[in-house]
Amino acid sequence: MALLTWVTLGLYTLSCRAGTTIWSGSFNTYPTAASFDNWSWGNEVGEYQWYIHGSQNTSQYLGLSPSFKNPADTSETNGLRLTVDATSTWNAQFERTELIPQTTQNLGTGNLFYHFSISHPSTNLPDSTIEHQICFFESHFTELKYGVGPNSSHLTWMVTGVSHWDTAFVPGTWYNFAYDIDFTAGTVGLWASTGSNPLVKVVQNVAAATSTNSADWHLGVLRISNTGTEDYYFSGVYIESGPVTTSIGTGSGSGTTSASSSTITTISKSTTISTTTTSSTTTASGPLQTQYGQCGGTGYNGPTSCQSPFTCKAISAPYYYQCL
Ligand SMILES: *[C@@H]1O[C@H](CO)[C@@H](O)[C@H](O)[C@H]1NC(C)=O
Ligand SMILES: *[C@@H]1O[C@H](CO)[C@@H](O)[C@H](O)[C@H]1NC(C)=O
Ligand SMILES: *[C@@H]1O[C@H](CO)[C@@H](O)[C@H](O)[C@H]1NC(C)=O
Repeated sequence: MALLTWVTLGLYTLSCRAGTTIWSGSFNTYPTAASFDNWSWGNEVGEYQWYIHGSQNTSQYLGLSPSFKNPADTSETNGLRLTVDATSTWNAQFERTELIPQTTQNLGTGNLFYHFSISHPSTNLPDSTIEHQICFFESHFTELKYGVGPNSSHLTWMVTGVSHWDTAFVPGTWYNFAYDIDFTAGTVGLWASTGSNPLVKVVQNVAAATSTNSADWHLGVLRISNTGTEDYYFSGVYIESGPVTTSIGTGSGSGTTSASSSTITTISKSTTISTTTTSSTTTASGPLQTQYGQCGGTGYNGPTSCQSPFTCKAISAPYYYQCL
């Protein structure tokens, strides 16, 4: 009986969606923040890879609670608190706390919609005087930023480093987004809304070098080093094969948990292995950085030359340069 009810609810929820969820980032399968630790390179389980964070216990960087979700999201039990603080150093140059999809699905084909909702409380506010990169791909073809122009206190949507849309980032308000990525056409647009309002298309698709290895979309926040503690809340995370679902709260909870192992050799994995050559100087000789790896920027001490055929390009000068 209980099972029947659950299945019925599941079908009901599915019927509210326009497209097909190809990856669910629901937090319903994570009973506690510590269960994110189930995942490792040797045990690739669950919906998220969890390795880009600081030195402290997971509960310092991630938390789960109903008060951390968009209240309109009825399919989720909890939202995620994601914290960046002075201990969030990863690979020496930045402070960052990020989750990455764990899946064998191809997250870079056809027309996909990357859904998420973000909010922040009125304590542990983001610092608008430093750059933040939010929910980005390794190649930065699209992302949100905070602490940059045209208004540094706004959430700004960027395509390849160029701002196309921005909104005030008010504590307690939920901002819902879907990146509308056409991997076939090489274009990206933006859907957005606040609270329980349905998504509307706020930016028509523009050309971009759309690509992902299906393990390089970062749900979270990377910032230039700072000492303050910042809290962000996320819910409604899923990737949908179009047409887009515009209603909030119907998409994330009912997706299937993805397969338990991945054969994709991720860029991120090799980045992890080649961490922190902090004593070396930035000379052109020495090891070569791999595609999407960092090759320069404030405080960066790693390889500054790229493996062929990639070249070192300014993504966010003077802070971040990448092999592309
Ligand atoms: C992680 O492990 C805990 C305890 O073993 C389990 O209850 C939970 O379902 C697991 N979560 C995931 C996402 O694998
Ligand atoms: C992390 O958790 C472990 C196990 O609960 C505990 O022994 C340890 O003191 C914690 N470390 C920090 C830095 O809080
Ligand atoms: C930036 O945005 C805030 C909040 O929307 C607004 O109060 C402020 O006037 C804006 N600043 C500029 C320079 O536009």
